[in-house]
Amino acid sequence: MQSKHYFIYTFGCAMNEYDTERIAAALEAKGYIPSDKVDDSDFIILNTCSVREKPQVKILSYLGQIKLLKEKRPNMIVGITGCVAQQEGEKFLKNNKVVNFVMGTDAVTHIDDIIEKAINGERFADTQTDSSSFSISSFSRKEKIAANVTIMKGCNNYCSYCIVPYVRGREVSRTPEEIINEIKSLVDNGVKEVCLLGQNVNSYGRNLSEKIDFPDLLSLVNKVNGLERIRFVTSHPKDFSEKMIYAMAENEKVCRYLHLPLQSGSNAVLKAMNRKYTYEEYREKIIKAREVMPDIEFSSDFIVGFPNETDDDFNDTLNAVQEIGYDRIFAFNYSKRPGTKAFDMEDNVPANVKSERLNSLFALQDSLYDKRLPGMEGIKTEVLVTSINNDKEYPYYGLNMYNRKVAFSSNKNLTFGDTASVLIKNAKRNCMYGIEV
Ligand code: SAH
Ligand code: SF4
Ligand code: F3S
Repeated sequence: MQSKHYFIYTFGCAMNEYDTERIAAALEAKGYIPSDKVDDSDFIILNTCSVREKPQVKILSYLGQIKLLKEKRPNMIVGITGCVAQQEGEKFLKNNKVVNFVMGTDAVTHIDDIIEKAINGERFADTQTDSSSFSISSFSRKEKIAANVTIMKGCNNYCSYCIVPYVRGREVSRTPEEIINEIKSLVDNGVKEVCLLGQNVNSYGRNLSEKIDFPDLLSLVNKVNGLERIRFVTSHPKDFSEKMIYAMAENEKVCRYLHLPLQSGSNAVLKAMNRKYTYEEYREKIIKAREVMPDIEFSSDFIVGFPNETDDDFNDTLNAVQEIGYDRIFAFNYSKRPGTKAFDMEDNVPANVKSERLNSLFALQDSLYDKRLPGMEGIKTEVLVTSINNDKEYPYYGLNMYNRKVAFSSNKNLTFGDTASVLIKNAKRNCMYGIEV
């Protein structure tokens, strides 16, 4: 019998990447082989994101291409999963004849049954949700050095612009036992670094019967033998506590890098966004973290062009970026999402103004960062090797404790998962280059 192939497109955040791994494991258990080409695949999944309009539109254009492929391969199975699937459900199935099934974000817990039903020719949408508890049974994972581990799902924060609470449901945490077991088994298979995932990891544990919070979880993960590094995303500033700062400082495996999304530097905009902190409160937390860990690096997300954002409001954002001094920023034009609170507000910042603001925000960040680059040259930094390539000058590549990309050369024959001490010779915006010393 000819072997069958699968192909998964993954959009959106690390949660989706993690779910893609779960779906891949289930397909492989059914005998499907991964393919790097969509054209010769028998089972295609689009794991979707609806956080902004753009990725959602992209999905429809991919579906158009898949429709043409399916005309040639009518037995091809096409599944839509992730956040658009959760949001649109049955409607998506009805409007897109090419789709065999729609699977919401919680339905991935019974992925085996879903694949079975699809193979048996059923057409269905499964968007049932379950916010009573959250458990993920173990699944086989590709060998790698750094792995994601979802520790909680959902979000209770209802930032006024954001669709996530509607497509990922209420906040529920996995038990620490389950998380630690997953990490131990990853480490047994060669993983050296984990990234703990949640929409707001700082509220980890609130629904669990045992008394545990995220700093406690960090201490437990820190004790896993053989694990070398711990990262986590995302932290909501309102819940980022002093206890968290000390947990980061005291657990030596935790990377000195914190993604703390500010979204806007204007208190009026933050209020309209329902973020529940002021810029001054945010800045206090940054100052405190730097007091305890002077070498810590920060990154942030920003939204520009939120309804009613004035030039002055936007200037507050520029000032915040200047004042905080981020290692990296991620910024997006505001995109109106159906069902959110802000959907009822007029999207009244013109598209060209949004784009101008976005460009000047990135330009400011680049200029600030460029000034720091010379100071990074000549320093020594520890790099975990995650990839090795044919580049003659810098064959080894990985991240350091501050989440910076480093490419380097070595006299030794290094392998994946080795840690090297690298002397930085040349620091560029997107990567630092050096030699192992
Ligand atoms: N839970 C995380 C982020 C989830 S979404 C947090 O609270 O930080 C990732 C980022 O997408 C957000 O931080 C925000 O900057 C951006 N985003 C979310 N909704 C958006 C929208 N409607 N328009 C533009 N950007 C949006
Ligand atoms: Fe969205 Fe806010 Fe929840 Fe983040 S904290 S997922 S931005 S609602
Ligand atoms: Fe997108 Fe869903 Fe993640 S909306 S950002 S894939 S939680």
